[in-house]
Amino acid sequence: MKISDENIEKVKTASDIVEVISGYVNLRQKGQNYFGLCPFHHEKTPSFSVNPAMQIFRCFGCGAGGNVFTFVMKTEGVTFPESVKLLAQQAGILLPEEDVNVEEFREKEALFYANKLAADYFQKSLKTPQANQAREYLASRSLTEQVCEAFDIGYAPDQWDGLIQYSQKYSLKQEILLKAGLLVQKDSGHMYDRFRGRVTFAIRNISGQVVAFGARKIVNDDSPKYINSPETDIYHKRSVLYGLHKSRDAVRREKYALVVEGYTDVISLAKVGVNNTVATSGTALTDDHARLLRRYTPNVVVLYDNDSAGAAAALRGSDILLANGLDVKICMLPPGMDPDEFAREFGRDKVLLYISKAVPLIDFKVRRLNDENIVTARQRAEAVRELVVSVGRVTDSIQQSFLIRDLAEKLQIEEKLLWGELAKHKQSPPVRSTVKQGSEKDNKYFHTKRGAAELGLFQIALIHMENIPEILNVFHPDDFKHPEIRSFFAGLVQSPENRKALQQQYIQRTEDINLAETLAELFFDHEMDNNEKYTHDCILTLKLAQLDEKINEIRKQMLLPPEEQPQKNMEDYLRLLSERRTWEKKEFVPKSKPEEKEL
Ligand code: UTP
Ligand code: MN
Repeated sequence: MKISDENIEKVKTASDIVEVISGYVNLRQKGQNYFGLCPFHHEKTPSFSVNPAMQIFRCFGCGAGGNVFTFVMKTEGVTFPESVKLLAQQAGILLPEEDVNVEEFREKEALFYANKLAADYFQKSLKTPQANQAREYLASRSLTEQVCEAFDIGYAPDQWDGLIQYSQKYSLKQEILLKAGLLVQKDSGHMYDRFRGRVTFAIRNISGQVVAFGARKIVNDDSPKYINSPETDIYHKRSVLYGLHKSRDAVRREKYALVVEGYTDVISLAKVGVNNTVATSGTALTDDHARLLRRYTPNVVVLYDNDSAGAAAALRGSDILLANGLDVKICMLPPGMDPDEFAREFGRDKVLLYISKAVPLIDFKVRRLNDENIVTARQRAEAVRELVVSVGRVTDSIQQSFLIRDLAEKLQIEEKLLWGELAKHKQSPPVRSTVKQGSEKDNKYFHTKRGAAELGLFQIALIHMENIPEILNVFHPDDFKHPEIRSFFAGLVQSPENRKALQQQYIQRTEDINLAETLAELFFDHEMDNNEKYTHDCILTLKLAQLDEKINEIRKQMLLPPEEQPQKNMEDYLRLLSERRTWEKKEFVPKSKPEEKEL
């Protein structure tokens, strides 16, 4: 379904290119532009730059470039309309074209609203007298009022219908609260507050909207320690990382993410000034989590409790991170301590010291292999095989070969042997979305004489606007075959006074990935020394190509029997030939002589 220009414009305005790209690339400001490592090719020194004024990006290393839509198309492997939809979603813009999804969109909005309302309610409740016990509990864990406010900690009063009553004031239906997982329905149909009597931790998505809660008991009974929101349309455990919306800047800054197990771990670390931390929410690490992290950094330090369950979980999670191309290190805390306790007891410096001693995952596994009492050849072989399997999950083959070399050295085993073992366990590579980026036809078109001339005239019209009249003297917009170039010139003819706006519009939202790339190049680093001559050449090339097309058309018709030929065929033919000769002879005449300019 076609998305209207107006809505594309809306989405473009709401999607700042620096902000969007920052979700994937560490950007640093230098002068007016931002620089970072190109996500489209491997490099060590940044040649990727973003120009916020023009809202375009360009890599001087690999030539990738374009506008905000192009960037999303390339990184997410989606088509232009899909890129618009993705950005619309992020910006919270409803695209009315999607009739089918309006319902769904409204429902999601309602779920966001319900969670927001609940978060407000829980926060307010924490300040009431009925929350005495909750406040005492939190204080015992040094979670002060300030911390609770900063980290969205609240209290769900020990009441069956507290939230229901509260939400009635805002005319929110119980049904929505139920769908949001905030209520539980009994067989009798009765609904009650899921989190009642617990302290609550709001879980936010990457845009900062509350999507779920984790709730901890404050009394020592035999109920589960934590109860979490169930999966809903806005909360998918497998792709939400607790704390990431707040910590992502720090993750970028520190160039690594710390992965911990619990909500309180994230909070206590942040309290002592270690802000680049995330946790899963009541689930094991998934591929989605790994991919999400990878947008912000290629490096992860996994910080886990040093008990055997903790280590086992750490290793499982680490394998998943490794398989998704992340560089993983493991940091083990002193026995019996989790990151929350460690941070509270020892503070920032000690935490950082421990982190600095984190060991690469493979080393860690090798070390465990040596520590544990693995003595028999068979046990050892089994353990090595396990290690190779986890290397086999790495999708980047270069990284994989480094790991194998490393492993061979550390284990004193021949590399060849490990490669052989690896081959046995090799997983088929994950399927990547391979949506054609831009149409190949367009790309080929720009490589024809005629296409190149059209593109040339388009470029001139964009950056040397003084040459526009000359172009429009010769051509009608319909003379341009490329749809976006055609509509650009049509726009110019229609309202010449808007050409500046038109220019911006075409640079910032062209749908053709090849065109976007060319335009980005043009506006980042292209110098046209003699644009008058270039204009002349492009006009001539396009004109001749056009005349040739018409002449060939008539030639074809002349092969038909005379009675089937159009009337003035011969006449037209001769006229076109003569026109062609005139154009062919046209020489470039500079409007202003160089010596005059120098005077
Ligand atoms: P932990 O048992 O390590 O809890 O579980 P914690 O974070 O240290 O909690 P405190 O310090 O005792 O308050 C780690 C994470 O596992 C999930 C929660 O997300 C928790 O933060 N979990 C744990 C549950 O979902 N349910 C449970 O019953 C326990
Ligand atoms: Mn804990």
